[in-house]
Amino acid sequence: MDKPLYGKTAIVTGASSGIGYATAIRLAKAGSAVVLQARREEKLQDLASKIKAMGGKALVAAGDATNPSNSDALLDKTLQWTEAGSKVDIVVVNAGRGLAGGVLTSDESAWREVFELNVLGAGHLMRIAASKMVAQKGGDIVVLGSNVGRNISPFSGFYGSSKFAVGALAEALRREVCPHGVRVSLVMPGIVLSEFQKTAGYNEENFGKGVAQFGKLLEPDDIAAGIVWLLSLPGHVNVNEIMIRPTGQNYP
Ligand SMILES: NC(=O)c1ccc[n+]([C@@H]2O[C@H](COP(=O)([O-])OP(=O)(O)OC[C@H]3O[C@@H](n4cnc5c(N)ncnc54)[C@H](OP(=O)(O)O)[C@@H]3O)[C@@H](O)[C@H]2O)c1
Repeated sequence: MDKPLYGKTAIVTGASSGIGYATAIRLAKAGSAVVLQARREEKLQDLASKIKAMGGKALVAAGDATNPSNSDALLDKTLQWTEAGSKVDIVVVNAGRGLAGGVLTSDESAWREVFELNVLGAGHLMRIAASKMVAQKGGDIVVLGSNVGRNISPFSGFYGSSKFAVGALAEALRREVCPHGVRVSLVMPGIVLSEFQKTAGYNEENFGKGVAQFGKLLEPDDIAAGIVWLLSLPGHVNVNEIMIRPTGQNYP
């Protein structure tokens, strides 16, 4: 099998479920060693065993993405682990959560956590990863935004605002670091079936009925395939942003 990312080392946050889990497997199949982060260590250990059984390399570094010192430790652990000598080639800033409802109807007690994870936690990891990549003169940062981070929806208005913010951070960072050979890509999925819906508080009433006419929704692996595709392009090509929706999703 073709291994376009052979010899690279990648961090994937939110690797215990959904898009992060699928991306870690795709990266490993493409030849990259992967460092797995999320809070649920057991799920990461299971994933690491699966990757190793496929002949890949995986390291578990469980932690909370809202805690900057956990993210610092994640990067340090990765740099100590790399056989190629203290470098990190790819960081997939994926850990995130949704929140059902608009400004009036969402659970305000979750607002702080949404921004701490989706914006501040993501921003800190982007900052430390980019700082290292500028010093090593290259690397890839892939940030998970959302289609509601470009087209706001009243059904997930507060969550969508956090994805507008992280999308702006991604483009701001890209402009800062592109002269140093560092690529930044914003990946904006449409509706992907994962643990996301349950965590966000979606149910048949506020989600199922609304998406019924969209046909087949996305699987996490559909997004993972897009991420590995853009990472596999020649170094002078940076897909700055990409939106991937189910074909039948006409809104948002
Ligand atoms: N699913 C969709 O429709 C959709 C659409 C657009 C964008 N996205 C974005 O895509 C990303 C992945 O979503 P998904 O669909 O894969 O959701 P998911 O299945 O719920 O996975 C979320 C991941 O984030 C991790 N996580 C949550 N809080 C964390 C924390 N404080 N520290 C570390 N890890 C944490 C979870 O692991 P632990 O619980 O083990 O920590 C899990 O691995 C998110 O940024 C989401 O906003 C999803």
